[in-house]
Amino acid sequence: MTESVFERLGGEPGVRGLVDRFYDLMDLEPGYAGLRKLHPATLDGSRDKLYWFLCGWLGGPNHYIERFGHPMLRARHLPYTIGIAERDQWMACMIQAMGEVGVEIGLAEKLGEAFFGTADWMRNRGG
Ligand code: HEM
Repeated sequence: MTESVFERLGGEPGVRGLVDRFYDLMDLEPGYAGLRKLHPATLDGSRDKLYWFLCGWLGGPNHYIERFGHPMLRARHLPYTIGIAERDQWMACMIQAMGEVGVEIGLAEKLGEAFFGTADWMRNRGG
């Protein structure tokens, strides 16, 4: 049987590590300040939600859907102004996080394309 992306990332601990690095970088890096500002003061809830969502999205357990039902990701992002700058900061932050937690290069490229499709679809204003 082919391994899922979830398994290739190291299952739950691997996905959690990636999500934690992603939000640590969002907090730390001045280049992601605009993205950080859209988020709540504490990122604990954001960390859990992205972690639960990604487990299912990558082929693992459906933690997010069990808690919240259908993700309706675009609708859930409508309260936040997301244009090209926000999309690109999200992508840069995720690519940096994948690199820093040591996601294998081929997998990081494949995942980067999948993330980009979703991030671009989340845009709700031009520019
Ligand atoms: C395009 C740029 C993006 C921006 C600016 C952005 C921003 C945000 C913000 C501000 C929140 C609210 C955080 C909170 O309530 O704690 C959020 C929630 C969330 N985001 Fe994003 N996001 C982006 C892309 C993505 C992508 C590509 C994914 C998935 C691959 C994603 C998955 C989620 C999930 C699962 C939630 C929780 C939704 C909920 O249950 O309320 N986001 N995002």
